[in-house]
Amino acid sequence: NAASGNTGKQAAGEAAAWMVDDGSVIGLGTGSTTAYAIKAIGRRIDEGLDVLAVVTSYQSEMLAIEAGIPLTTLAEHPELDIAIDGADQVDADLNVIKGGGAAHTREKVVAFSSEQFVVVVDDSKMKEKLDHFVPIEVLPYAKDLVMRCVRELGGEPQLRLASRKDGPVITDNGNFVIDASFGVIENVEALAISLSMCPGVVEHGIFTDVTDMVLIGNTDGSVTRLD
Ligand code: A5P
Repeated sequence: NAASGNTGKQAAGEAAAWMVDDGSVIGLGTGSTTAYAIKAIGRRIDEGLDVLAVVTSYQSEMLAIEAGIPLTTLAEHPELDIAIDGADQVDADLNVIKGGGAAHTREKVVAFSSEQFVVVVDDSKMKEKLDHFVPIEVLPYAKDLVMRCVRELGGEPQLRLASRKDGPVITDNGNFVIDASFGVIENVEALAISLSMCPGVVEHGIFTDVTDMVLIGNTDGSVTRLD
């Protein structure tokens, strides 16, 4: 249920906040689990922690400002020390699917710009084999071609629609999102490469070879570390 789900998210997010070193430049992901990390980093700043942060979305920018976290940009700090972000699903090899909040393009840029990439999830997100739909940010101009690419790769594409607006979700970068279901993904890296090769794909939500650590928040409030 929602209450126990939040306990795990809160435990993971707050554990990640303790991984931030004084004087570091950090990346802040997006979503409800990362929000707990952002708030906890804000409390550490109140107690004297000195950090600068790059955000990945409008949502994380607003949360960081509210928490009193000083912001910077990738132009000023192209190399981050640590980035903290949530995920929609994670496997035992630390492959991750992201983009449930349509923020995965900037999240991937920040993850790859960071020395250390820490993923925070509750235990419901862990899966032996990834089978979550893959969010794909696409240029609106290329929507139909990308849908065809997804079908040719054996997937079922769906244009993500807004919940309180008639029409599609528009990302922070002004693009559409196609959610592509592939069932159980047997070869994660092969699918990631194939999706990237389709013209008009801005970025998809499969993150391989970038996650250094996963902090899994359990329903009892304990945290399991995977690295
Ligand atoms: C944002 O686009 C996503 O990548 C989020 O990081 C992901 O959906 C996790 O969100 P929650 O922590 O809210 O589950």
